[in-house]
Amino acid sequence: MVSVTPLQALPLDELRQRSSTKWQKYPEDILPFFVAEMDYALAPEITRVLTRAVELGDTGYTPPEPGVREAFVGFAARRWGWAVDPETVFWTADVMMGVVEILRAVTKPGDRVVVTPPVYPPFYDTVEEAGAVVERVPLLRSDAGWEIDLLGIEAALAGGARAVLLCNPHNPTGTVHTAESLAALADLAARHGAAVVSDEIHGPLAYGEVPFTPFLTVSDTARNVGYTVTSASKSYNLAGLKCAVMVGGGSEQAKVLQSLPWEVEWRTGLFGALANNAAFAPESDAWLASLIAALDGNRHLLAELLAEHLPDAKYRIPDAGFLAWVDLSAYGWGDNPATHLRRQARVAFHHGPLFGDEGNGYVRINFACSPDLLREAIERVGALVGS
Ligand SMILES: Cc1ncc(COP(=O)(O)O)c(C=O)c1O
Repeated sequence: MVSVTPLQALPLDELRQRSSTKWQKYPEDILPFFVAEMDYALAPEITRVLTRAVELGDTGYTPPEPGVREAFVGFAARRWGWAVDPETVFWTADVMMGVVEILRAVTKPGDRVVVTPPVYPPFYDTVEEAGAVVERVPLLRSDAGWEIDLLGIEAALAGGARAVLLCNPHNPTGTVHTAESLAALADLAARHGAAVVSDEIHGPLAYGEVPFTPFLTVSDTARNVGYTVTSASKSYNLAGLKCAVMVGGGSEQAKVLQSLPWEVEWRTGLFGALANNAAFAPESDAWLASLIAALDGNRHLLAELLAEHLPDAKYRIPDAGFLAWVDLSAYGWGDNPATHLRRQARVAFHHGPLFGDEGNGYVRINFACSPDLLREAIERVGALVGS
């Protein structure tokens, strides 16, 4: 295996000069690990492209063919061997906008849409924004991790649910769904005439033990029921720039994407498109490998830190991404330990209950930071237990 130098996070005094949510929401004495932003400098190719755009005053509207289609097709082929038909690729401002517009197109007001808690909190609002109603089918928990409840989803679809909003890899558990479970899900959706919308924003950040499988690659059936919405925004820290990719599995799905209101495409940010193109370009592959090496170190470091300072915490090392889902219920800090810990330990983790009732007693910890900062956070929390 080729050895890769892990990326180093920026120093805290520089990070504190950032104007984004992570660094502005709380006062300086609170260390932030809540929102999914990363503490690294941008990939050099992204910096180059954006710097040139600033020099040129290139801050106008996104053109009709911004290059996103070609860039994503190239990335998907290199990274996952996924031969995406360029005719099925469209773009929009962000992943959640893509999800809401697809759901609006494939459901009628009042239709039910399956979500799989605990799950990224905006999934709940997004279904409602689309005029649909959330049907909760929680992930199944076993000692080995979490998995999609196929029987539960079958019952929901048999009962009339019209779509499944999938999170693959899953936020907050970091689960990479297996190809077998995705293929079974596709079969169920096809049998009941439902659509599957797969949010794959964390896909580029799979560590490899469970290979990441794009939903649309599992079978012809998946292609005939499925849509993927993704972006470079999580894996390259571009969320403020506003660009995401929508892929329709087959020609019917491409037609649905083609017929979305024109604003859906028009609201794509020009800097977002430029940055996504640079992220998806081969020039950024080495940076992504260095990022994953750093995150890989941190996901294991967190396990060690928890074992040392919070031995009753439960944490399953994620298969993908930089978010850790940690059960702190043993410590008696209530349903929402994040609030207690922000006040008492001056660390801001994400609130478990926002992800669904299954998140009571949990926090979500963003570990895309320096190992020292992660250590400091867990030591601060550990000191509460000792005291
Ligand atoms: C699963 C998932 N989907 C979507 C988003 C947000 O993406 P966007 O800002 O492109 O809507 C996030 C952000 O953390 C996420 O974790």
